[in-house]
Amino acid sequence: MKEVNSILSEYGTTIFTIMSALAVKHKAINLGQGFPDEDGPADILDEAMLATKNESNQYPPMMGIPELRQASAAHSKTFYDIDVDWETQTIVTSGATEAIAACIFGLIEPGDEVVLIEPLYDCYLPIIRRAGAIPRLVRIAPPNWELPYQELEAAFSEKTKLILFNTPTNPAAKVYTRSELEYIAGLVKKYDTYAICDEVYEHLVYDGRQHIPLMTLPDMAERCIRISSAGKTFSMTGWKVGYSIGAKKLIEAASKAHQFLTFTTPPNLQKAVAYGLKKDIAYFKDLGTDMQAKRDRMSRGLTKIGFEILDSQGTYFLAADYKPLGFDLVDVDFCKNLTIDAGVAAVPFSAFYQDGKDSGVNHFIRFCYCKRDEIIDTALDRLDKYFSSN
Ligand SMILES: Cc1ncc(COP(=O)(O)O)c(C=O)c1O
Repeated sequence: MKEVNSILSEYGTTIFTIMSALAVKHKAINLGQGFPDEDGPADILDEAMLATKNESNQYPPMMGIPELRQASAAHSKTFYDIDVDWETQTIVTSGATEAIAACIFGLIEPGDEVVLIEPLYDCYLPIIRRAGAIPRLVRIAPPNWELPYQELEAAFSEKTKLILFNTPTNPAAKVYTRSELEYIAGLVKKYDTYAICDEVYEHLVYDGRQHIPLMTLPDMAERCIRISSAGKTFSMTGWKVGYSIGAKKLIEAASKAHQFLTFTTPPNLQKAVAYGLKKDIAYFKDLGTDMQAKRDRMSRGLTKIGFEILDSQGTYFLAADYKPLGFDLVDVDFCKNLTIDAGVAAVPFSAFYQDGKDSGVNHFIRFCYCKRDEIIDTALDRLDKYFSSN
């Protein structure tokens, strides 16, 4: 029989699926996959139920229901003072993932180059490669995740169509600073490219830091799409509702792909997310404050056990170096042992680099802390027992 698509089939089963399956098999606490173990606000859930009962459950408009598109535009105005026309500069997709895919498929010509910064979220590379683009990878590395300015510029050329850029960033938990963003914006302009900005963790930034959308920098409004996700902002990762704003030309390009990918997103969930986006600013602030407390709880516990914890400036994640504990295993094996023997699952950092185990980053693991306090405490207890006896 003929072969299936070679680019996608070569990815096989991801380490995330392997670790999650291992966690189930060994009844481990899963701190690998990034999802909160408690649903978001009850009133948003009620809104979805009411909309399901009382409103149409047929195809909503392709670009999203006006209520959510208006709320998305207003949200960007409130938080970042970005002005967009909701009718031409917003789009709703089935999760941020679909927005990323729609942007790539809508903008890329085969042979175009795309600049990315490793370690990176797992869906970027397969989509880019399947679209026929050539990834140009630049690496930030632990422990400081410093942006290598010259290498970044070297990755740009006249062939660059866009940079796919994520801040706050998964998995490094880095929040890019204004001066880093200014440098990136300079390159975007100099090489006449676009920027797809994955900002799903926009409200999960800590220690007084500020999330700055690249789109707010001079001359960037016409070159950027800014992607948000109800999954992260309202702790409903299963809903898969994404809302993006951006330059008219880019939204239009993404919509050309979106109309053939999913065409639309469940109307009841769109309605509920529109309601959520109208919440007081306090809701969005508290989301970050509460998550910061979880980060601190996890970080304190892991430090006591003997891990070296890297700064988690935002997101759901923190990076832990296990070398100080005296283990020499590569990260994939370390994670497998931890799941089976300690009953706690994490994911190896090498999985977020294209070269995987050859990336040179092989003694860091990612823990997810968006969990109930008692789950965090039980996981820490298990780890403490395991490392005290090993
Ligand atoms: C950086 C990043 N982008 C996008 C997504 C996916 O968002 P959604 O669930 O809305 O598709 C995730 C989910 O973990 C993520 O970490």
